[in-house]
Formats: sequence, structure tokens, C-alpha cells
Amino acid sequence: MNPHVRRAGKRLRDLQTAGLWRQRLVRDGPAGRTVMLDGRPCLNFSSNDYLGLTTHPKLCEAANRAMRDYGNGSSGSALVTGYSRPLCELEELMAWHTGREAAVVFSSGYLANLALAQVFCQRGQVVLEDRLNHASLIDSARLAGCRLRRYRHADVAHLKSRLDALEPPAVGLVASDAVFSMDGDTAPLASLAQACGQKGVLLAVDDAHGIGVFGPAADNRGQGSVRAAGLDESAVPVLSGTFGKAYAAAGAFIAGPKLLIDLLVNTARTYLFNTALSPAQAAMAQAAVRISRTEDRHRQRLWTNVARFRRLAEAAGLPLGAATGPIQPLMVGDEKQAAALADGLLRHGILARAMRYPTVPKGQARLRLTITAAHEAEDVQTLVEVLAHLLPARIPSRQWSADHDPN
Ligand SMILES: Cc1ncc(COP(=O)(O)O)c(C=O)c1O
Repeated sequence: MNPHVRRAGKRLRDLQTAGLWRQRLVRDGPAGRTVMLDGRPCLNFSSNDYLGLTTHPKLCEAANRAMRDYGNGSSGSALVTGYSRPLCELEELMAWHTGREAAVVFSSGYLANLALAQVFCQRGQVVLEDRLNHASLIDSARLAGCRLRRYRHADVAHLKSRLDALEPPAVGLVASDAVFSMDGDTAPLASLAQACGQKGVLLAVDDAHGIGVFGPAADNRGQGSVRAAGLDESAVPVLSGTFGKAYAAAGAFIAGPKLLIDLLVNTARTYLFNTALSPAQAAMAQAAVRISRTEDRHRQRLWTNVARFRRLAEAAGLPLGAATGPIQPLMVGDEKQAAALADGLLRHGILARAMRYPTVPKGQARLRLTITAAHEAEDVQTLVEVLAHLLPARIPSRQWSADHDPN
């Protein structure tokens, strides 16, 4: 056998032995309230479509109209021929929606975040990050040749001590998720902004899971976690977010002061060397943002479902975390147990994927449940009943704050 193929086979066997084998399930039809996987219908508790917009007719109409008027693909990089009118309008919409001077649209959140350290830091500068940040922010620092240093999860005192030890210009960037994708909790945004402001260090916040969902209490139109925390562009200069989650589309944005956005457009490698988002996807994202601003009923349904889930899960004694939003992880710990639990749920017609290393730290495997506006009351009840039936005794006591010393 070819030695490369033999080595690949051995690595895959090792993954299997460690309970880290990943298997894709083929989906037919939309991933809405239910999903058809490998020919089986399941209740869907693994979707990031928090507002349940994936089958919204206005999204389909917007995409169809754009395909009719602009063709299918974007045809090239935004700096060549890919910058279609719907894309340009989407940027203007996002700048306005997030209360910022300007915005640029990338073809994914991963690519948008990758650009941050490359554009805003120099090689060898330190990037300070929450240790539970999304992989795209971690990779951003690593791929830009920066020195990645992490502070304990949501621990601003620890961040400050690291900032004190490393005066600027040694530090190029502080980056944090706004809502942590695997834990569902929210970063202490105001304290982060204050700490960075005092030191004159650039702060970037990734609101992939907050945009569309959270907003100012007095007028929540999904403007995101930063606006919900009462912070503006001067406190959090760089804001990224994706259209692939609450907006049920694809692509992502970075919003902030115009000069920072212009610098991204001119120098971000993941922008320059990437085919632009298609006109249909841009039109779909625009429609989703507008719907989420004007049709508050989706967010209302989401909050009702989240509250229902937490009430029932607490009553059933399920090991819940502190998250109050749509991401509701159930900590298991052991990778194989988490995979077995997800398999058990699937046998009961419920999709809730297990998250294991490297998505989460080793020994902190969990079910990442997501509650959405698409669920009916009885769906949430069924989920809790089946979990209560499958869970007992097998799950050791939770270790939510298993924060080890960051590197
Ligand atoms: C916090 C966070 N940021 C960025 C991304 C990447 O976004 P995208 O899927 O648009 O690449 C994700 C998930 O996919 C995420 O959870």
C-alpha cells in the first residue's frame, strides 16, 4: 500500500479508538425544525438557524431575483468582477444595522476572522485571546505569524495582567467571541473594551452567534451583542459576524471605522484571493437582516422556546450550564460517552451532535443543543424527556469552569 495512504489509515484508526471519529450524515431537504438525515426524519436540535429563517419565502424570493438579474456565481474576487450591487448594498446595510461607519463582506466568517491578525498586526506581535475563542480567531493569530497568548475564559483581570506584562506595541490585538460557540455564554464586553481602551490596544469582537439574536433591551432588532452591551465603534472598533447562523444565509461581515475597513479591502489575503460571495447569497443575507429587524416574532418564539427548555431541563435535573441564549450545551466530559449519547438521541429521532476535541478541550465533550424559533413546545418537551431517559448516572458531575492555565 502507498505509505501515505497507510499512514492516513493509521491516523484514522487512532481517531476511532479515541472516540474522535467524525461521521457526516447526508441531509435531504431543509434543516429546519426537522431534518431528514440518511433517510431518517429527526427533530433538529443542532442548527444555528436560531430565528428559523431557513425556509422563509422572502429569502428564497430575494435569492431567485438576484440569480435572475445577476446570474449564479460572483465570477471572481470582489476586487476584480465579483463586487455585485447586492454585495455592495449588503455592506451598507450592515454598517447601518450595527451602527458603524463601514463594513466589508467576506465569503465566510472563518475567512473574515482569519484576516484580522494578518491585517491589523505585524509578525511577531502578540495577539491576546480568550481561551475559548472560535478556531478562526486562534488560527488568525497563528497564520499571521503572531505570538498567540490566551487569557482565562472571560477573565478580564487575567487579560489585564497580561496586558500589563506586555506594553504596546508588543500587543497587536485583543480578540474575543461575543457569544462563545460551544458554551453559549457571553463575553464581558464592557470590561474588555475598557481594558483595551486604557492600553490603547485594538479590540476585535466576533459576534457570529449574537448578531440577529441580541440587541439593545429597549429596541432589540438583532443589532448584536456589542450594541446590546451599549457599546459603540469607539469601544469595540472591529466587529465581525456571520450570515450563516441567525441569518440562514452564508458569508460574513467585518464592520468598523472606514479606514480600518478600507485597509481590509486593500490588504486582507482572504479577501483579495477569494471568490466573492454570490449575488444570490448577498441578496438572501440582506433579506434576512431586514426580516430580523422588522419581524420580531421570530426572536419572541426563540426566547419562549429557550425559557421553556431551561425550565423543563432544570426540573428534570439535566446538567445545564449558565447560558441564557439559544446555545445550550449539556456537559458530558468523556468523548465516547458524548458520542454514545448523541447516537442514543438519534435512535429516538433527535439530532443533537456531540462536540469533541479539537472543537472543545479534551475531556470536555458535550452535546451542543441549540434551541430555535422553529421548534414547537412539544419538540422541546420531547428533547428533555428523552435526555432524562438516556442520561442518568452515566454523566459525572459537571466541570464547567475547568479552566486550566492558559498558554
Ligand atoms: C464564533 C464563530 N466565529 C466564526 C465562525 C465561522 O463562521 P462561518 O461558518 O461563516 O465560516 C463560527 C462558526 O462557524 C463561529 O462559531
